[in-house]
Amino acid sequence: MTDASANEPGIFEIMHTTRSMRRLKPDPVPNALIRRILEAGVSAANGGNMQRWRFLVVRDPTVKQTVAAYYRRAWKEDAVPRYRAGAPARLEGAAPTRSTGSSIYPAVQNMLLAARALRLGATLTTLHLRFEKETEAALGLPPDVHSYALLPIGYPMGRFGPVARAPLADFVYQDRWGEPSRDL
Ligand SMILES: Cc1cc2nc3c(=O)[nH]c(=O)nc-3n(C[C@H](O)[C@H](O)[C@H](O)COP(=O)(O)O)c2cc1C
Repeated sequence: MTDASANEPGIFEIMHTTRSMRRLKPDPVPNALIRRILEAGVSAANGGNMQRWRFLVVRDPTVKQTVAAYYRRAWKEDAVPRYRAGAPARLEGAAPTRSTGSSIYPAVQNMLLAARALRLGATLTTLHLRFEKETEAALGLPPDVHSYALLPIGYPMGRFGPVARAPLADFVYQDRWGEPSRDL
């Protein structure tokens, strides 16, 4: 693994500008960069350091097209009607627990940050899970292995910029639930 090069942005700038980049150029991402992203992923916290995660790098256009067709269907049939109705996005499965995905998402976030540091665009996506069986079959997953997220990664068409979030005061309390913070 190479050291962070001098012209990579610092960690706080990376965190504040890692937004979802959905428009990507078709140019392939070199394996060396994918490797750095994966190394960042496996550096993440995970339960008992069991490292039960597996990462599937999909380059095969047929596999991509098959999964993409299910994703588009989920977008049209599920996400669009929800947005139109002003309903919140459905991001968890039918019976989520507080630990669902908890040993995967730290790695996913590390990979998103690493992609941003390498000036690659990425998005955490999960809509394909609406067609879980079909997409897992397309990816060749064995029956006891499940997909948590798909991260399309590529050179961005747009520019990186600050993420849009509500002010901290909307989310942060002090000492007791609901008490506004006096210190921030
Ligand atoms: C659990 C989870 C699932 C998500 N699934 C999708 C998805 O399927 N498709 C997508 O385009 N974005 C997905 N996102 C990205 C969010 O829409 C995005 O992070 C949010 O709108 C904030 O925008 P930003 O990342 O550009 O700041 C997901 C994010 C999370 C945390």
